[in-house]
Amino acid sequence: MVNTLEADWYVDSEIYARERDRIFHPSWWLMGPSHLVSNPGDYLCDRICGWPVFVLRSQDGKLRAFLNVCRHRGATLLTKGYGGGINSVRCPYHGWLYDDHGRLQNTPKFGEELGDEKKSLSLHQIDVHVWNGLVFVKIARDKGVGFDEWLGEVSGLCADFPGPSSLDYYGEFTVEGELNWKTYCDNTVEGYHLNLIHPRLGTALAGGDVQLFSVNDGRSVAFDITHGASGGAREARGAKGLWVYHFPGLQLVLGDKIFKAERVESNNSNHLRSINWAWYGELDEAAKHEAFAWGKQIVEEDFGICAEVTRNLRAGVFTPGPLSPSMEKHVARFQQIVKDILLNGE
Ligand code: FES
Ligand SMILES: [Fe+2]
Repeated sequence: MVNTLEADWYVDSEIYARERDRIFHPSWWLMGPSHLVSNPGDYLCDRICGWPVFVLRSQDGKLRAFLNVCRHRGATLLTKGYGGGINSVRCPYHGWLYDDHGRLQNTPKFGEELGDEKKSLSLHQIDVHVWNGLVFVKIARDKGVGFDEWLGEVSGLCADFPGPSSLDYYGEFTVEGELNWKTYCDNTVEGYHLNLIHPRLGTALAGGDVQLFSVNDGRSVAFDITHGASGGAREARGAKGLWVYHFPGLQLVLGDKIFKAERVESNNSNHLRSINWAWYGELDEAAKHEAFAWGKQIVEEDFGICAEVTRNLRAGVFTPGPLSPSMEKHVARFQQIVKDILLNGE
């Protein structure tokens, strides 16, 4: 029988620092919907695992991504989540100005002319990629793999379902709390908790008897959420549906009339934030509202139980328990992946 990880893995800030460096830094992260940066001058900005990032559609039509940090003394450059109509970025602290390629243009009242040094003070550029109506970024330029390799077989799973390009964008919601990111992932890759934590979802999915399978050598776990869907759920999801987790922080809900993308990220061992963007097909407003609210309720239910688990792990009273070989095999695999990366530097 495989046991859960020791509680320390969820608490220790040294372990979190290694996770941030080895898992989060080289990974691709969902930044937001690409329709928000469709025109030159449009931008998106946010923090991902603490790293300040912005993505900007330059006047030449190309999408570029940068660390959102001034090269002078570290101020945050763009502060609003998204916007448009900019062809340069001025630092709000001392007014340094960067063009939309990230190049330092001028440094008002700096005094000594920077001369050639200016060229070395461009914003730090990071990788950006658009897939299926979604913008992704990768913080580490010198680590990790290309986007397609990272996503692997998940793109094939999505091919059978409509994406943002054929659905209507509805809105976004955020859920944030004090929990360790791995408690949420442990939870997310098993259907064992479904009936008790999500009674409404359990009923809609025929008593929570969901089929799970993994691809990408266990880095992605998918639930078939077609079975037994009834009422509002069936209306929103249509005849078939799939829910997908992709390591380390991407989740997708796929259906005939729904697409939801979620980024799950943290900035310390006791923090988690889930940002969700939802699109719907031909549904009336009430059904969209209902599906959106229910999606949020499910995330909140998971956050609730995982925050309780995290509190107990932090209290130092938990000794590892056994994982069910049938119900929790994907949890065991997820934990093994984390261990391999942290212990072997894989
Ligand atoms: S920190 Fe940006 S101009 Fe000084
Ligand atoms: Fe759940």
